[in-house]
Amino acid sequence: MTTGARESPGVVLMEDAATGVSLSVHDGVATVCYHQPHSPVNTLNTRVGPIFEQIFARIEQDASIVGAMLVSGKSDTWIAGADIEELRRVTTSAEGEALSRGGQLLLNRLAAMPKPVVAAIHGAALGGGLEIALACRYRIATDHPKTVLALPEVQLGLLPGAGGTQRLPRTVGLQAALDMILTGKNIRAKKAWQMGLVHELVHPSILHDVAVRRVRALARGDAMPARARTRGAREVLLEDNALGRQVVFHQAREAVLKKTRGQYPAPLAAIDAMRVGYRHGEEAGLREEARRFGELAISEVCRALVSIFFATTALKKDSGLAPGVAAEPVRVHKLGVLGAGFMGAGIATVAVQAGTVVRLKDSSLDRVAAGWRAVRDVLRERVKRRQITRLQMDDTLSLVGGTIDYSGFTNADLVIEAVFEELEVKHAVLREVQAVAPRAIFASNTSTIPIRDIAAAAVHADQVVGMHFFSPVHRMPLLEVIVTPETSAQTTATVVAYGRQLGKTVIVVRDGPGFYVNRILAPYINESGKLLDDGVSIEAIDEALVSFGFPVGPITLLDEVGLDIAGKSGPIMAAAFGERMRPSVTLQRVIESGRLGRKAKRGFYRYNEQGKRAGVDQGVYALTPASGARIAVTVEEIQRRTVLTMLNEAVRCLEDGIIRSPRDGDIGAVFGIGFPPFRGGPFRFLDALGAATVVTQLEELEARFPGRYEPATLLRANAASGERFHA
Ligand code: NAI
Repeated sequence: MTTGARESPGVVLMEDAATGVSLSVHDGVATVCYHQPHSPVNTLNTRVGPIFEQIFARIEQDASIVGAMLVSGKSDTWIAGADIEELRRVTTSAEGEALSRGGQLLLNRLAAMPKPVVAAIHGAALGGGLEIALACRYRIATDHPKTVLALPEVQLGLLPGAGGTQRLPRTVGLQAALDMILTGKNIRAKKAWQMGLVHELVHPSILHDVAVRRVRALARGDAMPARARTRGAREVLLEDNALGRQVVFHQAREAVLKKTRGQYPAPLAAIDAMRVGYRHGEEAGLREEARRFGELAISEVCRALVSIFFATTALKKDSGLAPGVAAEPVRVHKLGVLGAGFMGAGIATVAVQAGTVVRLKDSSLDRVAAGWRAVRDVLRERVKRRQITRLQMDDTLSLVGGTIDYSGFTNADLVIEAVFEELEVKHAVLREVQAVAPRAIFASNTSTIPIRDIAAAAVHADQVVGMHFFSPVHRMPLLEVIVTPETSAQTTATVVAYGRQLGKTVIVVRDGPGFYVNRILAPYINESGKLLDDGVSIEAIDEALVSFGFPVGPITLLDEVGLDIAGKSGPIMAAAFGERMRPSVTLQRVIESGRLGRKAKRGFYRYNEQGKRAGVDQGVYALTPASGARIAVTVEEIQRRTVLTMLNEAVRCLEDGIIRSPRDGDIGAVFGIGFPPFRGGPFRFLDALGAATVVTQLEELEARFPGRYEPATLLRANAASGERFHA
C-alpha cells in the first residue's frame, strides 16, 4: 500500500541506521520517518527516544523548516507500541517509573513544539504509538481496514505510561477515553474520526500530500477543518463539572470491580491517574501515571499477562515439529468437513472466514442445511456488528458447499471429521475418506478417543492426526493438535499452519486419553462433583471458582458443555487413570436422571423457556449420597480441592510428554478452559505458589482422600531442588 510518499523525499538531514529513524526536508516541510530494521512493526524502545529528541531539536532550530509530519516506513503498520521485551527487563518499580517518565518528557517536548507536527497515520497506532500521535498538533488517519487506534496496555496489566491517561480524555472526552483505556479495544479509523481522536480521514494514496498541506497551513496559522465530534447532552452534563466527573469515575470503578473482582489492578490504576489529572492538573496526573506504571510493571499480574503474550507470539512461529525435524506445510485450498452438527458447522465457519473452500457433509440434506444456517448466523452477527459487509458475507458463504455423499472431496487437501463420538463411526468415515481422497490429511475433532485408535483403521496412518477445537469454535482461541507416533512431519506441519491460518493459537500434544486440555479438566470437574457428594452447595462451588478467576464455575461449565458429553468422557478417563478420574456419584445420578444441561433447559440449574438460567435445580440435592444434607466448607477448601488436582495433572502431562513444555501447558489451560490469565496458567501459578508448598498441601489432601492427590513425581522433584517450571 502506498501512502503517497513523494518521489523525492527531499534532503536527508539525519539518518540513524540502528533505530531506523530519519529526518528529511522538502520545501521547508520535514518528514520524520520511523522504519525499525529487522522487525515487521515499529516499536518504541529506549534507543529511539534520544534520536527523536535530537530530531525534535533539529526541527526547532532549523529556520528553513516550517513544520513536520511523522510517518511510518512500514507498509501496513504505524507504530505498534512499546518494546515489551525491554519492559520485561524492568526489575524495580523505580525503574518502571523512570521508563514511563522518560516517555512522558519526550512527548511533553513534542506537544510543546512551536512548529506544528502532524501525525500521518496508516496502519495500527497502538499504545505508545497512539500516545505519540496524541502529542502531535494534528492527526490524519487513512480510511483503511488496517488503520486502527488503541491503548491496549491494560491487556498486559499496565496503563498507558507516556501521557495517554492525560491526553486521551482531553482529546475525546472522559467517558470515551475511559472506554478505550479500560478495555484496550481497537478503534477503526472512521470511528476515530467520528469521536475526534483524529482530525481528518483520507484515502491512503493522498495521506502524505494532505499531511504536507496541513503542516504548511498550521505553520501559517490557518484555521483547520472543524472537528467532527459533537458532544451529546450526557457528555456535557457529566464531564464539564467536578461532581459529574465524580459520578463517571465512580461508575467506571464499580464496573471494573464487578467485571474483574479486583483481580486486575491496571484498570483501577488508570482510573486513578485520570482522576488525579482532572483534579490536580496534567502534571500531577502524569506523575501519578508514571508512579502507577512503575508499580504495575513489576506486578505478578503484569508478568503473567506478558508471559502469555510472549508464549502466544512464540507459538505463532512454532512449526509444531520436534527439534531438528523439518517439513513444508501443504497449503489447504479445499477442506472437507464431516458432520454438519454443532462442531462441524463451527469448523466450517472459521474455515470459510479464512478463505478456504469447504465441502460440508452430513447424512441428510436437512442436517447439511442446518449446518449451513449455523455458518450463516455467525456471519450475519458479524454484519450486524459491522465487522464485515453484506457483500463480504455473501462471498464468504458462497465458499461453503453441502453434500450427502463424497462429491467434491477428491481434491480436498484436508478432511476434518466431527461426526458422532463413536469409534465405529470414526472408523467408517476414515475408511471412506481414504478411499475417495487418498492424499488428503484426515483430522479428527474427537474430544476423548485416542487418535491412534482411530488411525488403526487407516490405510495411510501417517496422514491421520487430531485437531481438537473448542466450542464455540468461532470464539475459542485454542486448537489442540494431537500427533501419534505414526503421524508424519508434513501432516503435523500442515495442520499446525492451517490452524494458525484459522486464527487459532495452536499447541501440539501427544496422543493419550483426554489429550491435554480435557485431561486436566477431568479431575477438576470430578472433584467438584465430589464436593457435591459431600453436601456442598452448587452455588458455593461455582462461586468459589469464579472468585478464583475462572469465567464460569465447574458446575455451570457442565451444564454448558452438556451432561451427556461429560458423562461419556468420565468412564474413559477413569479407565485410563483410575481413582483420581473417577466421576462423582452425584454427577452420574444427575446424568441418569435425564438432565442434559442448558441445551435441554434442565441440568444442575433450571432454565426458563428462553434458555435463561433461573436458579439451582433443588431436585439435584436429593440425588447426592448425602441425600440433601448440606455442609458448609470454606472457599479456600473448595479452591484447593479442585484447582490443586488440575495443577497436579498438568505436571503429570508434562512428565508423560503429553505437552512439550510448561509454556504450552499454560497456554492450553488459559485459552482452552479459561484458567485465569492473571495467574499465567497452571505452571506459572505453581511457580508463584512454590512447588514445596503445593506438595505439602497435596499430601494433606491425599491423606484425607487416598488415591486422588498423590503429588506428581516432577512436582516432588521441583519441591526438593527448588527448581521452577519457568526460568
Ligand atoms: P453433533 O451431534 O452436533 O454433530 C454430529 C453430526 O455428525 C450430526 O449432524 C450427524 O448427523 C453427523 N454424522 C454422524 N455420522 C455421520 C457420517 N457418517 N457422515 C457424516 N455425518 C455424520 O456433535 P458435535 O457436538 O458437533 O460433536 C462432533 C464431534 O466433535 C464429536 O467427536 C465430539 O466429541 C467432538 N467435540 C465436541 C465438542 C463439543 O463441545 N460439542 C468439543 C470438542 C470436540
